[in-house]
Amino acid sequence: MIVRSRSELAAARRTLPGTVAVVMTMGALHEGHAALMRVARERADSVIATVFVNPLQFGPSEDLNRYPRTFDADVAMCEREAVDVVFAPDVDVMYPGGEPSIRISAGPLGDRLEGAHRPGHFDGVLTVVAKLLHLTRPDIAVFGEKDGQQLALIKRMVRDLDFGVEIVGVPTVRDPDGLAMSSRNAYLSAAERESALALSRALHTGDVAAARAVLDAKPDLVVDYLALVDDETWEDASDATAIGRMLVAARVGRTRLIDNVQVHLGTRDVG
Ligand code: PAJ
Repeated sequence: MIVRSRSELAAARRTLPGTVAVVMTMGALHEGHAALMRVARERADSVIATVFVNPLQFGPSEDLNRYPRTFDADVAMCEREAVDVVFAPDVDVMYPGGEPSIRISAGPLGDRLEGAHRPGHFDGVLTVVAKLLHLTRPDIAVFGEKDGQQLALIKRMVRDLDFGVEIVGVPTVRDPDGLAMSSRNAYLSAAERESALALSRALHTGDVAAARAVLDAKPDLVVDYLALVDDETWEDASDATAIGRMLVAARVGRTRLIDNVQVHLGTRDVG
């Protein structure tokens, strides 16, 4: 069932039996989103998916207006994955008074790494995630590890502000060549896609210097950051740390891509 207004969502929500899981998306759905829906289906009796391109999380020079919109195919995927309710609000349904004057602040981690290159991005993400949690009232909310810093910040928000919802992370789904699936991959030309493969190849070396060398071999990649953090604290990883996360963000042409993998620092094995 597709619902677009708050009242339709509230009515649909009341009919859902048992526990409820939500999968939040900006549409242009791919197999990564489908994996989230499958985990939601396994973990709960009922599943709500949301499709909303959130203006609040896009910077002024970012791709809000050209973000891919494939609504009919998105609904077909939700049907295939046995989603019970698709909530697809317009901007004025989500933000009836215009942009909200009160927002969630992502705190210090919101200003680092991805946040350092996208000022205000994570405040915009957390604000819409908080609103969608209030509107859908789930027991469980499922997010991808692909957006690792986003997942970490959502877990912190839910803990710090007592949202009372379980946050479940799902491993990154990749194309057979290793490229992390992303709605933004649709922007890539064949040559750009070839360069973009260096991101996952670099991360899978499990070593920052080796990763840097892989990235440097692609002159058309502009690296925003390559970092190794402690997977728990998201501070710079110290040698003693058992589990880290290596993160990369890079631009190829007009397209900005991110990826990350878990790294077992003792062995440098990529998990
Ligand atoms: P979007 O980029 O559409 O992603 C929706 C969800 O799918 C996120 O939890 C994201 O981490 C997950 N996802 C994307 N690609 C994935 C992949 N290859 N493997 C596994 N999971 C993947 O992330 C957002 O939208 C927005 O910021 C949102 C949370 C909806 C708030 O607006």
